[in-house]
Formats: sequence, C-alpha cells, structure tokens
Amino acid sequence: MKKILITGGAGYIGSHTCLLLLEKGIDIVVIDSLVNSSQNSIKRISNLLSNHKKKGKLKFELGDIRDNKKLNQIFNFEYNSGKPIDGVIHFAGLKSVVESLSLPLSYWDVNVNGTINVIRSMQQFGCKNIVFSSSATLYGIVESKKIKETDLINPTNPYGNTKYAIEKLLNDLYNSDKKNWKIACLRYFNPIGAHTTGELGEAPQLNCNNIFPKVLNVASGEMNHLEVLGKDWPTKDGTGVRDYIHVLDLAEGHIAAIDYLQKNKPQFICLNLGTGKGTSVLDLIETFKKVNNIDIPFIFKSRRSGDVPYMVADNSLALSKLDWYPFRNIKDMCIDGWKWKKNNPNGYESIY
Ligand code: NAD
Ligand code: WQD
Repeated sequence: MKKILITGGAGYIGSHTCLLLLEKGIDIVVIDSLVNSSQNSIKRISNLLSNHKKKGKLKFELGDIRDNKKLNQIFNFEYNSGKPIDGVIHFAGLKSVVESLSLPLSYWDVNVNGTINVIRSMQQFGCKNIVFSSSATLYGIVESKKIKETDLINPTNPYGNTKYAIEKLLNDLYNSDKKNWKIACLRYFNPIGAHTTGELGEAPQLNCNNIFPKVLNVASGEMNHLEVLGKDWPTKDGTGVRDYIHVLDLAEGHIAAIDYLQKNKPQFICLNLGTGKGTSVLDLIETFKKVNNIDIPFIFKSRRSGDVPYMVADNSLALSKLDWYPFRNIKDMCIDGWKWKKNNPNGYESIY
C-alpha cells in the first residue's frame, strides 16, 4: 500500500506505527481528535525522521472519526491528488475497561459508530484494505493455557463488547464482498514500553488504570507505591500473569499485517499479537527494579473486579502468517519505558 490513513495515529500504539511506516517510505494521513493524545507526538515523529533519506510523507488532520464530512474530505482530497488512500489502520477509539463500565454509550458511539463511519468513507472511495486494533479483552474467562484465536469469545465489559461488535461487523463486510475486502483484526495483548530513543511513549490524557504507567509513576515519585491487585490468584506467585508486548514489536506487527494483506488474496483474519510469554505482576516489578536500579514499593490490595488470573497469547497463527517475531523481552520493555518517562515526566507536554 502506498498511502495509508491512520486513525488515532497520535496515540500510543499509533505513533510508533506511524514512525515505522514513514521509515519504510509509505505516505500516511493521520486523523486524530487528540482526546487521549497530543499533537506533539506527531512533531516528535517528524523530528525522528529528519535525518532519514527515504521517508514517506506525513499529514496530520485534527478531526473526529464520527465526522463523516471530515473523513470524506480527507479521502476525496487524496483521491484527487492522483495517489488515493489505499489502506487504513484503524487505531482510533476509547480503550479503558473501567471507564467503559460507567460510560457505555460513549464507548459504543466512538468505537462502533466511529468505525462504521470510517468504513462508509472507505466504501465510497473504493478502499478495501483495513487493519483493525482489536483486543485480547474479548476472550472469555481463561484457564491457565495460552489463548488461541478460536477460543471462546465472551467479553465481560462494554469496551470488550464494542471490540467484538466491530470484529463481527468487519466479518459481515467481508462476506458481502469476498472478492475485494482484505481485513485483519489484530488482537493485542498487553502493550508496554516505548520507543528506544525515549522520544515516543504512552502519554494518556484520560484516566488510565493499566499497570505499566503506574509502575512508571511510582518510579518517578509521582506515586508513593504500587497497589498489587490480588495475591491469591491461582498463578505461580499469586499475582496476575499477562503477556506484555513491547510497543515497537506491536507496531512492527502492523507493518507485517499490511504486507500480508497486500500479498495475499482477499480475506478476513483475526490474529493474536502477543509474545506467548507470561509475566506476573511481581516478575514485572522485580525486572523493572533490577534493570533500572530503582525501587518500586508496593502493597497488596484485593483483586480488581473483572480481572482474570492468566492471559497469555498463543501467537502461533500470527507467527505462521506474518513475517514477524516479537523479539524484545520484558527487560527491554522496562528499560525503554523508563527512558521515556525519565526524559518526559509530563509526557508530550514536557519541555523539549
Ligand atoms: P490511545 O488512546 O493512545 O490511542 C487512541 C487514539 O485515538 C488517541 O490518539 C485518541 O486521541 C484517538 N481518538 C479517540 N477517539 C477518537 C475519535 N472519536 N476520533 C479521532 N480520534 C480519536 O490508545 P492506544 O493504546 O494507542 O490504543 C490504540 C487502539 O488499540 C485502540 O483502539 C485500543 O482500543 C486498542 N488496544 C489498545 C491496547 C492497549 O493496552 N494499549 C490493547 C488492546 C487494544
Ligand atoms: C495487568 C495486571 C492486574 C493495575 C487491560 C485491558 C486489555 C488491554 C490491556 C485494551 C493484572 C494488575 C493492574 C494495578 C495491578 N487494553 N494490576 N495493579 O487488565 O490485563 O488488560 O489493558 O484493550 O483489554 O483489559 O491490564 O495493565 O490493567 O493489568 O496489580 O494498579 O496488573 O490485576 O493482573 P489488563 P492491566
């Protein structure tokens, strides 16, 4: 694909993916409302590329994916330029499980209506290639075994319901025109870490309940201690086990997915993007302390409602289909994440 629309490209995973696409010489147009990001991430991407000879063109459009007129304007402009948008990577959406419990309407509106809007514009301008940010959150209760794409889908919160609804919608779309649609739903596990330069990272504007940003806040002194949510889970040390994946490996997974769609026949495919390795909360804390030489005080608290003990990907389908391997380990994730936080204590609003 030569020109890709990146919805939500100013965000955490989107910004890393934009950088890699541009490094490959692919032109991109980013649409982002900045509801959970900063346009400074886009400036950082441009700065990181300043010494690159072969690089794609980057355009940024401030806008909401629910704004049909805006999306059509973008598609129309690029169409008339003679180099139309021929693929979409759709990151834009709201992503907090906890927030979705109290704001289900916002989640259905942004995630589902927003996606319908994106697809409408794609249809109108004959663009039928899409990579969608799905989530491991849509799997049902999991035992202590790695999750396959064919395992039970049974989301337990509104956020997960929207991801499942979108996957179903995309599947229906494929069935309506099997000769043309190329659709990949990438089910991410737990992305953490940051760009190795420390220039790009996670800088949420909205409430964030994930563990890694909290570890960083404890390391920087913004929080006194971490709360470890549950010490009696049926896992090796009693704390929750997750499949943390370096955000750069995840971004590379998108490049691989785009290549895969381009080279293969029209299809609808769902792929787990994880490392296949489980790390407990205590393992994560220990590794972070060791590689960064910083103490992470913690206290045990009771389990968080809706949590599961073990969530690790069987990533064999992604490894067999994509030219991709997530080779960065948990140490790399802790080193790069801390470099980002240390250099940017206030995220993208830090003095640069
Ligand atoms: P993020 O919040 O950093 O990025 C999402 C971007 O979308 C933000 O820049 C935000 O401003 C933008 N956005 C939100 N609503 C919008 C709207 N209506 N119109 C235009 N832009 C809008 O999140 P992320 O971690 O980069 O996640 C990207 C995608 O991956 C999301 O769809 C998320 O659900 C999914 N995902 C994330 C994780 C994770 O743990 N980070 C795990 C699984 C799936
Ligand atoms: C990880 C582990 C917690 C916070 C969520 C979404 C998932 C995906 C990634 C979007 C668990 C423990 C946490 C804390 C802790 N996002 N924990 N103290 O819940 O696996 O996944 O984010 O799609 O869909 O569900 O990630 O980072 O919140 O938790 O001990 O303060 O850390 O109990 O074991 P989770 P997380």
